[in-house]
Amino acid sequence: MKLAAARAALDYVPSGAVLGVGSGSTVNLFIAALPGIRQRIEAAVASSEATAQRLAAAGIRVLDLNEVDDMPVYVDGADEVTEHLSMIKGGGGALTREKIVAAVAREFVCIADQSKLVPVLGQFPLPVEVIPMARSHVGRELAKLGATPVLRPGFTTDNGNIILDAHNLVISNPAELESAINQIAGVVTCGLFARRGADVLLLAGPEGVVKRGKRGILS
Ligand code: A5P
Repeated sequence: MKLAAARAALDYVPSGAVLGVGSGSTVNLFIAALPGIRQRIEAAVASSEATAQRLAAAGIRVLDLNEVDDMPVYVDGADEVTEHLSMIKGGGGALTREKIVAAVAREFVCIADQSKLVPVLGQFPLPVEVIPMARSHVGRELAKLGATPVLRPGFTTDNGNIILDAHNLVISNPAELESAINQIAGVVTCGLFARRGADVLLLAGPEGVVKRGKRGILS
């Protein structure tokens, strides 16, 4: 199903433009399919070092985001997604760069299998990227918000920081919680993508891929 979602995203790759590419196992399947349409792709921006390496190996030119002023489309996966296209991301730890690249893109295309669609976010522990010296402070602040923070063991982000995974949250207002967590001193960003959620969700199930927008099923 991940492969079906990844292949469906090929239709969203614009010609002659810079493509934003996320991280994770679903995106890896998307990258593996890119050589078939390489002539359409001017270049790509990667949301992680791992994705940059995969893109380069697939023969796609990888640009620094600072070299890019227009990006029509960003393709990425999600750990959880709601029907309103708010997401939890960062299971792979790339949340900060994912959020930055997504902020530049005009359209966010999320690719996922149907197990990722949830009525309420929070069953998947919410990743929070934290400056190492702020670990204890941020942990206490997350606990005040009702979370049980757990340090991701032996993990350092591409930016040299740590991840606290916030367990036991029931996220009824994702945009509000995203802002609240991002206000904590020492937080780089949290893995809630609600203020800038996806624009299109390509959700694969046994019957095929369903295209969803923020207002429901498309076409
Ligand atoms: C990476 O940090 C994440 O945001 C991924 O996009 C997310 O974890 C989805 O990954 P999979 O495609 O491997 O499920």
